[in-house]
Amino acid sequence: MNRRYRKTIIAGNWKMNKTPTEAKTLIEDMKQQLDKDVYKYCELVLCVPFTDIQAAIKAARGSKIAIGAQNMHFEKSGAFTGEISADMLKEMGVKYVIIGHSERRQYFNETDVDCNKKIKVAIAAGLRPILCCGESLEEREQNVTMEVVRKQIKIALRDVPAEDIKKVVIAYEPIWAIGTGKTATAEQAGEVCSAIRDCLRELYGARAARAITVQYGGSMNAKNAEELLAQPDVDGGLIGGASLKAPDFVAIANASRQ
Ligand code: 13P
Repeated sequence: MNRRYRKTIIAGNWKMNKTPTEAKTLIEDMKQQLDKDVYKYCELVLCVPFTDIQAAIKAARGSKIAIGAQNMHFEKSGAFTGEISADMLKEMGVKYVIIGHSERRQYFNETDVDCNKKIKVAIAAGLRPILCCGESLEEREQNVTMEVVRKQIKIALRDVPAEDIKKVVIAYEPIWAIGTGKTATAEQAGEVCSAIRDCLRELYGARAARAITVQYGGSMNAKNAEELLAQPDVDGGLIGGASLKAPDFVAIANASRQ
């Protein structure tokens, strides 16, 4: 990470876990275990299920933990049964929204074009999108990681104007590292995050690219966080499993103190 130019953001992605009651308990535990001065080093975000948002926001009061969502629809409103809009999230007090997680792409056929629509609507509503990108194992083995990630980013950010780009967070999440316990090495994570910044530089210029937070996600945990975060272009983490346990999430936040 390079704190001189950009914020370190440690974000949990709870996925489809925790009821509102469980969310309250987990956040209260985290608050108790977090040192107040951790916020000097990083921003903390918890992306919770829609049904936990209200309880999570209430439980996070008195801390600087921001609450995020894990998805949203790309239209402002309308006949989309079962969907949630950006304005609905914003009014509840949500600050961040994950866009294009590989699980959404894999199980719900979300495309880069969908991500592009969602990012624009999220920004217009005042939410900060966390755009996920990352290659499959096959793509890595075929040596096309950079091409895959560049394509995902270029399509997802199409027509996102320069004045808005700082609101976007990018999360590099190699699919083969998600939920597998197989973390990318710090070098692999650093290399792709740096290529992502090169791509952002081509699209938005050096100054903007330097200011954008690029996270790593995929089996990040209390043990490997410090090494991953020591990479100059890794500015935080998007954490699945380890964000469901207060001591682990707190340890990862503490690893950003370096
Ligand atoms: P794990 O940390 O459980 O591998 O999940 C990563 C992830 O998908 C975060 O969005």
